[in-house]
Amino acid sequence: MISGLHHYALEVPDLAVAEGFLQDFGLETGDKDGSLVAMCPGRDQEQVRLVEAPVKRLHHVSFTIRPGSMDAIREALERSGTPVIEPPAGATEDGLWLRDPDGTAVQLLDEPQAPARPAAEALVNIGGTRQRTGVAQWRRATEDVLPRRLGHTLLFTAQPQRMTEFYTQVLGLRLSDTIHHDLVTFLNAGPGDHHVFGFISSTHRGFHHASFEVPSIDAIAVGADRMRGQGRAAGWGIGRHTIGSNFFHYNPDPWGSWIEWFSDIDQIDDCWVAGDWDVPPHLWGAPPPETFLANQEPAS
Ligand SMILES: [Fe+2]
Repeated sequence: MISGLHHYALEVPDLAVAEGFLQDFGLETGDKDGSLVAMCPGRDQEQVRLVEAPVKRLHHVSFTIRPGSMDAIREALERSGTPVIEPPAGATEDGLWLRDPDGTAVQLLDEPQAPARPAAEALVNIGGTRQRTGVAQWRRATEDVLPRRLGHTLLFTAQPQRMTEFYTQVLGLRLSDTIHHDLVTFLNAGPGDHHVFGFISSTHRGFHHASFEVPSIDAIAVGADRMRGQGRAAGWGIGRHTIGSNFFHYNPDPWGSWIEWFSDIDQIDDCWVAGDWDVPPHLWGAPPPETFLANQEPAS
């Protein structure tokens, strides 16, 4: 039923701080109904919404649903005893609104995903593949480095199993993989990215990170350089993840959570079988900073 992530929304104490941070990250920002919104250059889909409030916390998550699945969703919500709610203040009124078992507001939009900003075909000379001859790659490797689309977001939760049941059995996401039972849970929306959503076990709910696809590992490194050049705090990466296999670099945001660029994420199909893995989050690269899994949002 859910076809993908549309955007995520945070309450933050200072929209000007948020705007500078998201622009340094590589997003375009604008004002929409009194909120700050951020888009990927070249993609016509709101990706981040920021609502001014005294304390930073997750405001809502928004998903697109498959065409024609609204009736099935309404039935599933009714079966599970999940009421439809009024849109929370600061959100758009579009679509159907509900609260997940953690109480987080969820928007379901009956519309397709906007296409990601197109990227050039990548010709590589890696492994046994020789696709690029007579081209000086360094002269073009950093031509296109900005985010193309929001790929996924992970939330903290104190009840990962209940949240996973809700998002899979009621809203139609599927289990991709888990790390150490329910320490980290990755969910997919059918064929495509290995994960579009997921959970990290914590004492209470919260926003952990959002991740944006960039065209290459070079783009990730250039983004990290850009943030460093702007005086932004050091993050985590570059590395290659275990689950999902994507190259990554994270920067801490101004509120104690994280934002990520990714490239080369695993694509899955309907035959994918979820596994449970006892692995660190990275295949190689420096280990994550100690603060990486700290949930700094107030419990509510
Ligand atoms: Fe991620």
